[in-house]
Amino acid sequence: MPKLHPTLTAELQLSDGRKFSLPVYQSNLGYDAIGVESLQKEKLFTYDQGLTSTALCESSITYIDGDQGILLHRGYPIDELALRKSYLDVAYLLLNGELPNTEELDAFKKEISSHYMVNEQFTRLFQGFRRDSHPMAVMCAASSALAAFYHDILEDSQKSRDKTAIRLLAKMPTLAAMCYKYSIGRPFMYPQNNLSYAGNFLYMMFATPCEPYVVNPVLERAMDRIFTLHADHEQNASTSSVRSVASSGPNPFACIAAGIASLWGPAHGGANEACIKMLEEIGTVDRIPEFIARAKDKNDPFRLMGFGHRVYKNYDPRAKVMRETCHEVLKELGVTTPLLEVAMELERIALSDPYFIERKLYPNVDFYSGIILQAIGIPTSMFTVIFALARTVGWIANWKEMCEESLKIVRPRQIYTGYTERHIDK
Ligand code: SDX
Repeated sequence: MPKLHPTLTAELQLSDGRKFSLPVYQSNLGYDAIGVESLQKEKLFTYDQGLTSTALCESSITYIDGDQGILLHRGYPIDELALRKSYLDVAYLLLNGELPNTEELDAFKKEISSHYMVNEQFTRLFQGFRRDSHPMAVMCAASSALAAFYHDILEDSQKSRDKTAIRLLAKMPTLAAMCYKYSIGRPFMYPQNNLSYAGNFLYMMFATPCEPYVVNPVLERAMDRIFTLHADHEQNASTSSVRSVASSGPNPFACIAAGIASLWGPAHGGANEACIKMLEEIGTVDRIPEFIARAKDKNDPFRLMGFGHRVYKNYDPRAKVMRETCHEVLKELGVTTPLLEVAMELERIALSDPYFIERKLYPNVDFYSGIILQAIGIPTSMFTVIFALARTVGWIANWKEMCEESLKIVRPRQIYTGYTERHIDK
């Protein structure tokens, strides 16, 4: 990535007369950024709670235009990728910068499928958990445990990083399916290298040793599309957590565990599980006004799950594709669910309500995903695990980009508001 060169300067003047010239760095797309590194020597910090206006890094992987509701992966719009390419096409694009040709995709698929299996000792890791453990707790542990199996501190090379990327991409579906099987007391199913990435995941989730399992192509396509829609999303909370942890140079599998932990929260990836629970609690269309009122009541902590976004102040383009996929899958399966009717009416009412319009609150990626996951047969407790599985490639792509660029340790400062120096009484 070409080094940043300032194109403008920003003149900062304090009311005490101090003046500073600061560089302004130009982005290829979106906002330019003021470089504030030099303020430290002037004994000044900047302060930006929640980093709402702070660029953590340079990146060329994904771009979001929140005002226009645009999401590009290496320049390609998300709807084109989700509707015309496979998840492994998109994973290759995120990791390598270009879409694969047929030969490259075949080689990529073959390499990934040869790493689907996990060490047989992994089965014992699960024995330490209660059957009713939340699968995200198990996934956090399982990802860290991979670090124990690949404990050799990786040499700092492209080849080593590429191998780690393959291992993680290949094993996350296996670990996710093992979490599910363990939670229902069913035997783990070995990966099937002859199946597609999504097909193999569905096989490991739903096949049993007692009878043949045939992957439903409708579900396979829907699963693959859901993976694509969750693959990467700039410096969201979990991706920036991975970057922050990776900046000190630990084992990359441990960095991914940090991403899984951050994604778990209901404000982030956990919103898909929280959203379906909200839709089930609403139950019927006539109860929607009660919940809209609660979402607007400042004395009520309730928020509409699957609504609002730190960056999108327009419709999340992934939610549009997810809603279309919802209709397509339910129709092809001949399935109806009151939850879709509730979701659509909730969206219609919220988008015409001044409270949501003024705050530019729209459905996000988590609003419709749970309805499709339920139609596929995925239990609610596994929804965020699916998000983590799909987002792993985004975390890896950012980890690789960071390692290849500048592994500068992430070490923010603070505004100290505590005691000045004091001493223990004699
Ligand atoms: C993901 O960053 C990413 O890219 C994340 C993600 C990804 O792919 O990685 O896109 C995935 O995490 C999507 C978001 C999933 N989370 C939810 O759906 C949870 C519900 N949404 C909110 O909690 C909230 O919208 C956030 C956390 C997503 C964003 O919150 P912000 O940017 O910190 O905004 P805010 O909390 O300052 O809210 C601004 C105003 C407030 O009202 P006022 O104080 O101005 O009166 O909007 C209100 C909030 O109360 N508001 C909501 C709301 N979201 C914001 N009110 C009701 N319901 C909501 N969902």
